[in-house]
Amino acid sequence: MATQRKHTRTETKTDNRSDIQAPKGKLGVMIPGMGAVATTFVAGVEAIRKGFAKPFGSLTQMGTIRLGRRTDARSPKIKEFVPLAALDDLVFTGWDIFEDDMYTAASKAGVLERDLLDKVKPFLSAIKPRKAVFDHNYVKNLDGPNVKKGKNKMDLAEQVRADIRDFKKSSGAARLVTIWCGSTESFIQPTAAHASLKAFEKALTQNDENIAPSMVYAYASLSEGVPFANGAPNLTVDIPAMHELSRQNEAPICGKDFKTGQTLMKTILAPGFKARLLGLSGWFSTNILGNRDGEVLDDPGSFKTKEESKLSVLEHILQPELYPDLYGNFTHKVRINYYPPRGDNKEGWDNIDIFGWLGYPMQIKVDFLCRDSILAAPIVLDLVLFNDLAQRSSQLRGIGIQEWLSFYFKSPMTAPGLYPEHDLFIQSMKLKNTLRHLRGEELITHLGLEYYD
Ligand SMILES: NC(=O)c1ccc[n+]([C@@H]2O[C@H](COP(=O)([O-])OP(=O)(O)OC[C@H]3O[C@@H](n4cnc5c(N)ncnc54)[C@H](O)[C@@H]3O)[C@@H](O)[C@H]2O)c1
Repeated sequence: MATQRKHTRTETKTDNRSDIQAPKGKLGVMIPGMGAVATTFVAGVEAIRKGFAKPFGSLTQMGTIRLGRRTDARSPKIKEFVPLAALDDLVFTGWDIFEDDMYTAASKAGVLERDLLDKVKPFLSAIKPRKAVFDHNYVKNLDGPNVKKGKNKMDLAEQVRADIRDFKKSSGAARLVTIWCGSTESFIQPTAAHASLKAFEKALTQNDENIAPSMVYAYASLSEGVPFANGAPNLTVDIPAMHELSRQNEAPICGKDFKTGQTLMKTILAPGFKARLLGLSGWFSTNILGNRDGEVLDDPGSFKTKEESKLSVLEHILQPELYPDLYGNFTHKVRINYYPPRGDNKEGWDNIDIFGWLGYPMQIKVDFLCRDSILAAPIVLDLVLFNDLAQRSSQLRGIGIQEWLSFYFKSPMTAPGLYPEHDLFIQSMKLKNTLRHLRGEELITHLGLEYYD
């Protein structure tokens, strides 16, 4: 059963600076799914630590934050402004249904060049996958040998909890974070089994089919008081049972689905159209990709989970209920085509039909030749460091969903009844204002009238 620590929320103090514990000791990163994204992230961290590469794309490593007035010239690096774990303190483990160590898995994923991989080979080879919790019904296009056996799903969760304790002990980590980089699971909707922690625990022992493998990892992590971030569009922690467990054990949660590639572009472009009151009559998006993720998404069940995550973005950004003439009647289609020759180097095409003054139509074509895992890896790093920060902050650790991390997700989790914020620029402001708030700095509203007094 869950180790149930009492949840006590600390009052907000005027000086918040003292509310964050220092990041002492090592931070253990635990990754279910050691495929393209996970290996690109871990290999990248090691290459950066060794000085072979730079952490482009990572807000925690390269980003700055403006404090005070524009005339104050105070823009420290984020990692100097809030106490984040240092890259040198990260240690790693993972689970996968295949037995490949991280070096072999990274070589097969074909994202990073052999030259770079060989420079970090001893480090990557030492990270071997633990046996996975897997159910073929949830990922129809995969099967592998490295899988746990147990009498029911609760038993499997206990085995994952034992893995977590084992890793903590053997690595000497002071704190842990779990981040799901496993395949996209088949589409499911919340049921009675997900409605409360009590119902969920009963369902685990009854081997309920509505409990996906990703939920077993999440339950095990949160039960051990470990934050859980969800990089795939699976339901996983987006159910009342996990919200409850997260708050109870003061283990932050966030998700879903890393915002990379085409959706990143959508959340950059659509806010611009809305800001300028340009109408939309259609947005057709198609992709070709040839990695294992593409192969998994070739199954209609897994694709449906991804499609739901991708489709909701425009509705939320454009707010057709507020702007019926502009956005009340647009067609939005998303296609993903598995095309092996491309590997991880996806190509995403967008045809956007917009209209302006007097209804005159215009078209925009976007052809984004992107690299999926190169876009995802810095997101994984930031989420690991920010979830660890959240857990060390008395203001954030007990709130459950970390909505301030929406910036990183295609389908951001929110409190029940709240619509998600998809606009990348609002998400960025929300994230930075949260950091300012944590450190007792004034929030930035961009009003700026004070400069003209
Ligand atoms: N790369 C991106 O830009 C991006 C963006 C958003 C979301 N994602 C999501 O991130 C996830 C990882 O993407 P990827 O490109 O690394 O895929 P991948 O196929 O290379 O890696 C996924 C790994 O998860 C393993 N796996 C599947 N089920 C598992 C289980 N139950 N337990 C342990 N391991 C399991 C697979 O064997 C595989 O090695 C996918 O769900 C993908 O949809 C990726």
